[in-house]
Amino acid sequence: MDNTEQKITILAIESSCDDTSAAVLQDGVLLSNVTASQKVHEEFGGVVPELASRAHQQNIWAVVDTALRRASVDKTELSAVAFTRGPGLLGSLLVGTSFAKGLALSLGIPLVDVNHLQGHIMAHFIQTAEGGEVHPELPFLCLLVSGGNSQIVLVEENSSEDGKKMHLPKMTIIGQTIDDAAGEAFDKCAKVLGLPYPGGPWIDKLAKMGDANRFPFAKPHLPGYDYSFSGLKTSFLYTLRDMLKAEGLDSVDALSERVPHLKEDFCASLQKTVVDILLQKLKRAALDLGIRRIAVAGGVSANSGLRDGMTELGRKQHWEVFIPPFSFTTDNAAMIAEAGYFKFLDGDFCAIDEVPFAKTRIN
Ligand code: KG4
Repeated sequence: MDNTEQKITILAIESSCDDTSAAVLQDGVLLSNVTASQKVHEEFGGVVPELASRAHQQNIWAVVDTALRRASVDKTELSAVAFTRGPGLLGSLLVGTSFAKGLALSLGIPLVDVNHLQGHIMAHFIQTAEGGEVHPELPFLCLLVSGGNSQIVLVEENSSEDGKKMHLPKMTIIGQTIDDAAGEAFDKCAKVLGLPYPGGPWIDKLAKMGDANRFPFAKPHLPGYDYSFSGLKTSFLYTLRDMLKAEGLDSVDALSERVPHLKEDFCASLQKTVVDILLQKLKRAALDLGIRRIAVAGGVSANSGLRDGMTELGRKQHWEVFIPPFSFTTDNAAMIAEAGYFKFLDGDFCAIDEVPFAKTRIN
């Protein structure tokens, strides 16, 4: 008998924003994960949706082909095609969705739609061929922080209506941002400082050389577990504006020539404030729900201040803390393949006439 017939092989496609990514997962083990990042947005200081869609269209074939070749898998061996259905930029999502539909239809295999946010959380369950990953047991709390979302999600056992235990965990948002996301706050403040896009990694880099206590930026006072970052952004902007005014200057570069460590101190103070805001609510949620397994996911989980802060808080609170490898923090198709694999095992397929969705929702 041909062995390949018994294997479950998932091809996943991620195209929700400005990364075109494809991954192949076989029997739960990641065989390849290929991402083409779009440089075209750098000069605009943010993602330009129309340019993102066009770049996905140009990249998608080569990215999928490379992912299959690196995995040594022929398309005829695929069991299903998983794709990111949303949330994200609609034009970008349409490229991945249409490609996935075309491929699944031509191969006569199921189509599996994956929620991008669930994908970020499922990054914690990715198993590579090298092994050594530590996966959180259920239930756990996940702080999901990216360029478009900041949420606290309760991840727990999932049962179908007939009581059958499902592979894909149940995910419930218990708190989320009411305005900007944490990554958005980093990116927008970085832009004000004249740093390249995306600004998050630059803030992280400069923060290491700055004084985190120099600028006491405003923190929100919201009830419950919800976040807000728009006030912080305004506080950052006004602090800088007042300094420029006091020095009689009109450019940040001129100001930073006069004031030593200006950008470094702004970055360090901003990062500290964002991390404090994120961890304060996370701690409250963990205490209220009595949960001691805590994970972080999404692009902002690459931030060294957040990683250190979570590790330190986890030590004090006796939490088990789960931080994904860097390669699975920003947008990638490996996480979509992981969620898609679990949905495939649950027989949870997507109809060919389903359409992408742009707005945040977890299921
Ligand atoms: O998850 P992701 O790749 O895309 C979305 O789904 O949004 O997250 C991108 C976000 C951007 O805002 C980027 O600035 C931020 O993650 N980011 C960081 C770091 N690396 C990426 N923010 C702070 N520190 C970092 N090291």
